[in-house]
Amino acid sequence: MAKLPCRIVIFGAGTLGCYLGGRLLSAGADVTMIGRERLQAIFAKQPLVVTDQRHFEFRETLPESRFVTDPAAAKDADLVLVTTKSGDTEDAGKLLAPVLKPGTPVVSFQNGISNPDRLAAALPECPVFAGVVPFNIVHKTPGHFHQAMPGQLMVTATDKLAAAEPWFDAAGLPLQKREDMRSVRWSKLLLNLNNAINALSGLSLADELAQRDYRRCLALAQQETLTLLEWAGIRPVKLTPIPMQLLPYVMKAPDWLFRSLAKTMLTIDPEARSSMAQDIQAGRPTEVDWINGEVVRLASSIDTRAPVNQALVNLIHQSERGPARSWPAAELFHHLQHALDEYRARR
Ligand SMILES: NC(=O)c1ccc[n+]([C@@H]2O[C@H](COP(=O)([O-])OP(=O)(O)OC[C@H]3O[C@@H](n4cnc5c(N)ncnc54)[C@H](OP(=O)(O)O)[C@@H]3O)[C@@H](O)[C@H]2O)c1
Repeated sequence: MAKLPCRIVIFGAGTLGCYLGGRLLSAGADVTMIGRERLQAIFAKQPLVVTDQRHFEFRETLPESRFVTDPAAAKDADLVLVTTKSGDTEDAGKLLAPVLKPGTPVVSFQNGISNPDRLAAALPECPVFAGVVPFNIVHKTPGHFHQAMPGQLMVTATDKLAAAEPWFDAAGLPLQKREDMRSVRWSKLLLNLNNAINALSGLSLADELAQRDYRRCLALAQQETLTLLEWAGIRPVKLTPIPMQLLPYVMKAPDWLFRSLAKTMLTIDPEARSSMAQDIQAGRPTEVDWINGEVVRLASSIDTRAPVNQALVNLIHQSERGPARSWPAAELFHHLQHALDEYRARR
């Protein structure tokens, strides 16, 4: 496909935004990243480096105009990608609303379910689309962003992204257009339910998933979500080699069986932790209200409750308030199972 000019602005350029920005720049795209001064200061001293697990490497010293802090830089955008954390969505919308040309397409590549709707409410003159990033990016060293696992970007099927698509193709990040983004987003969320458990474990993802009792915690949270999705008429789609409905059974499996069933999941960087764990460690608010909290809201929308995910939301909020404590696997499992048993007994 021919590449027509397309000014792409990435709003909230942190780990994900800088990775996407670097990949698009490697294809010669016209990219402006809007982020914070601390990253701007890094790029004033050293290049942006973007790598992936297939030996892709791009390194560029950014001219000042490529990474800015002023939202006004979005005024000529032909496409905006929003990559802030979920707690900053309303602010992003408020800052972009007076700046964007009416009709500018906006894609939320954030996790969670409600971000595109919350952005759309703040940006009534722009079409807002949902995106999903099914892989993880690690900010390895200052200015170096690494894609740690394979996967293809997904966006709502629309012709409004036609001018940008060839740039994503050339960047090696082709956009998979989906008619079923609601299901795709909920399916990604089923995987993100581990973020809270990982944060509470205080361990790396590899060490946490190696312990069956932590996986049983994840199985409880996933099973609760799958049941609610079924009641709400939302059908999960397959994002992993294992069908989503089978995830809780795989998680509950004994270690030897889990190791053989979940090979891809276990090819994680041995040091990697969930972003929620990193947020707690850094004293930042987490995205728990837009991950496990979305399950709690789904439950309430169909007049029921989600005791396991509610318990995880509560524990993460306690950790945010500090001091954060590490939960041994068996203790966390008993805490969640108790929340579920109590709810069942009261029904
Ligand atoms: N990282 C991944 O591997 C990955 C993968 C898939 C999906 N996601 C999702 O993508 C979203 C972003 O994640 P992330 O890991 O990239 O988070 P991140 O590293 O915290 O990046 C977000 C950046 O946006 C900045 N920001 C917030 N409000 C801003 C504003 N008004 N103006 C300028 N900059 C602003 C933040 O600065 P402050 O910190 O100073 O607020 C931060 O630097 C999340 O929803 C996450 O769940 C991430």
